[in-house]
Amino acid sequence: MSTNNVWTHKGTFLLAAVGSAVGLGNLWRFPYLAGENGGGAFLLVYALTIFAVGIPILIAETMLGRNSRRSPIMGMRFLTRTHRTSRAWESIGWLGAASAFIILSFYSVIAGWAIHYTGQMIAGTLSAADAEGVAASFDALLASPALLTLYHSLFIGSSALVVGLGVHRGIENGLRILMPALFAILMVVLAYAATIGDLAAAADFLFTFDIASLSLEGWLAAMGQSFFTLSLGMGAIMAYGAYMSGAASLTTTAFTIAFIDTAVALIAGLAIFALVFGAGLDPSEGPGLMFVTLPLAFAEMPGGTLLGAIFFLLVLGAALSSAISLIEPVAAYLVERFDLNRPQAVSAMVIASWALGLLTVFSFNRWALDSPFHALFGRSAFGLLELATNIAMPLGGLLISLFAGWALTHGEVMKEMRTGETWFRVWRLLVHFVAPAAVAFVFLRSLPQVQGYGIPAIGALVIVGTFAAGRSFLAERNAS
Ligand code: PFF
Repeated sequence: MSTNNVWTHKGTFLLAAVGSAVGLGNLWRFPYLAGENGGGAFLLVYALTIFAVGIPILIAETMLGRNSRRSPIMGMRFLTRTHRTSRAWESIGWLGAASAFIILSFYSVIAGWAIHYTGQMIAGTLSAADAEGVAASFDALLASPALLTLYHSLFIGSSALVVGLGVHRGIENGLRILMPALFAILMVVLAYAATIGDLAAAADFLFTFDIASLSLEGWLAAMGQSFFTLSLGMGAIMAYGAYMSGAASLTTTAFTIAFIDTAVALIAGLAIFALVFGAGLDPSEGPGLMFVTLPLAFAEMPGGTLLGAIFFLLVLGAALSSAISLIEPVAAYLVERFDLNRPQAVSAMVIASWALGLLTVFSFNRWALDSPFHALFGRSAFGLLELATNIAMPLGGLLISLFAGWALTHGEVMKEMRTGETWFRVWRLLVHFVAPAAVAFVFLRSLPQVQGYGIPAIGALVIVGTFAAGRSFLAERNAS
């Protein structure tokens, strides 16, 4: 059964995909990763991977969604049948749905912290706090399972409400209000940060490219971040692509998404580092950058609590528009497959993901240092869920680029892309070789078992593997 949903306007896919892409990844993760990995050099690699790997996969994933006009799981089933390929490719849909489910569970807990900080800023609780006070307040939040669960429930419940209302009434209408508001708030934050903070130091930090200062880990982090930030490999883009107008251009849309997403990360980075440098704080604080360093900067500046409240509202809105894109692929599947109505499908997905989120909640307190997960896997439940997605995301991206690059024929893809021959060739080259090789490289390099081997050995393995996968695929196709 195919879905009859198509976005109301030709441009709505763009709005929805930008909503999915812009989130905690831009406002929280990008600045702290750039801060930890030396600023400009990280940015350079990040931008390179966005354009050489991210955009080609983004086009491929959207294409699979639009071509099938189904949820990722049913869509991949449909595509393997109509294109007479191995059913093993259906794993793309299942992998995407499973990772969307897992990511939502912890994304919601972390987004919940922003609810707490919005409240703190409005109440002015932190306005006179010093460094220890702000850090102690963050620790107190993490130590309370009740508070974390409350915020987690509020956040996931609000996201569920939007998706439960339906593709048009909920998602489209919600995003139409939310996204312009977010960009307006971002501009206000940047203007404030430029006036109060040290924008020159921030620009210097982000735009001075000293590539030698970037460690191999920095390269890997930059590549992982470009996947996370573009919402790739998780079915979110595929699910939204299923509703995309046939008249919209895949290429222009993908470039626009990547451009806006990168611009938001840069503006957020500039604003955050301007505030951090202006207050004489450390840019390499890590994940606490947004929840510890930034509130401290807000506490020290005139009018800081107002700016702080606006800032955390921005974070919340951005996280919400991303969370709904994590619910949609699974909810759409449950509707298609089991004939549930939307509220039922969304409730089933969200309640299960909420329950899984409790593991993340406890990972910051009761189970922080010792838990069954530590005993079995040597890390907290949250660490384990994060690791699972860090593997599933590149793996999903790798499979998508292999499937789109090798499985679909030249003619089919040409028809869907409707683009000039030159760009088409470049894109084919990118999804055939560059993207799979780059992703597989990062993937293998991050496995503990292969870390001892040299980069050339892994690189060679990756290239041979890509060719082998492609060839066996073609053989299968010709035989059928
Ligand atoms: N792209 C989102 C962000 O940068 O915060 C995170 C995300 C949303 C990842 C949706 C994956 C996804 F399917």
